[in-house]
Amino acid sequence: MNILIIGGAGYIGSHVAREFLDRGHRVTVYDNLSSGLRENLFPEEAFIHGDILDYTGLLRAAAGGFDALIHLAAFKAAGESMVKPGKYSVNNITGTINILNAAVEGGIKNIVFSSSAAVYGEPEYLPIDEKHPAKPENYYGFTKLEIERFLGWYEKLKGIRFASLRYFNAAGYDVQGRITGLEQNPANLIPVIMEAAAGKRPEIQVFGDDYDTPDGTGVRDYVHVNDLARGHGAALEYITRNDRSLIVNLGSETGLSVMEIIEAARRISGKPIPARIVGRRPGDPAKLTASSKLAHEVLDWTARYSDLDTLIRSTWEAYRRRD
Ligand code: WQD
Repeated sequence: MNILIIGGAGYIGSHVAREFLDRGHRVTVYDNLSSGLRENLFPEEAFIHGDILDYTGLLRAAAGGFDALIHLAAFKAAGESMVKPGKYSVNNITGTINILNAAVEGGIKNIVFSSSAAVYGEPEYLPIDEKHPAKPENYYGFTKLEIERFLGWYEKLKGIRFASLRYFNAAGYDVQGRITGLEQNPANLIPVIMEAAAGKRPEIQVFGDDYDTPDGTGVRDYVHVNDLARGHGAALEYITRNDRSLIVNLGSETGLSVMEIIEAARRISGKPIPARIVGRRPGDPAKLTASSKLAHEVLDWTARYSDLDTLIRSTWEAYRRRD
């Protein structure tokens, strides 16, 4: 297939692009390089330096005879979205409307969208399946949920087929070491730990150790980016083969605590990684884990690389190379 990957130079997007290239597809990446990196582009793919707020540019790109479009171009910092909702409205929502309209104009029928477990909000039960109420607690999660609704309408009105992939905590780096660009100014736990291990920051702050979890620190479902990337391939196959849309969780179904991750990072990197317990971060639930039963059933997808060791080892390999 001929595939347009919007946001394909970013952290997750570059892994997704690699996956589609490996599956033998033709890939064009469209990215404004605001957080994506040239270094994450592959020689086999075409690249268009463009912004999703530039509708003319998008229209021109979408006219390239694509069978499918993968949309991973979004701002993703939940905390920031609560203080800068305008930034998230414009980029995530307006940008996606531009993408949908350009897809319609360009005759692109199939869309795979990067959604998020942030659409669920505070968990009412665990593990979270797709039937769990969607009540986002942050504006970022709200933008993802709204986009799922737009996709539903464009399906009804314009015959678009979509897969919306609700990622849990994306982590890890390509296990074959083919992606080398590191996220700039990360806020997520694992890259922050890696920066502390690499000596780029003095310590890691642990946001609370008094949660109702085995060691008192927050528990999350970390899913390896190679697993996420494989999920995109499987989801695109599913929607094209069955001519049917899909909203599905992608998670490892395993909960890992902040302390478990810090300890694994110390062991694997051999670095001390000073950690300091500070207060809870507002809005953080104690524990989040996914049910990926639907993904097993319909996509035959299971996380393969999302164990603690592979998550940390593959990330440390990427950071260590930069030492
Ligand atoms: C993980 C755990 C923190 C940093 C966020 C978004 C969510 C999704 C994934 C995109 C928590 C703790 C963290 C630190 C810490 N994004 N922590 N010290 O909050 O689960 O999810 O990323 O879709 O929408 O909200 O991820 O990596 O920030 O935190 O102790 O410096 O690590 O409290 O328990 P989170 P995270």
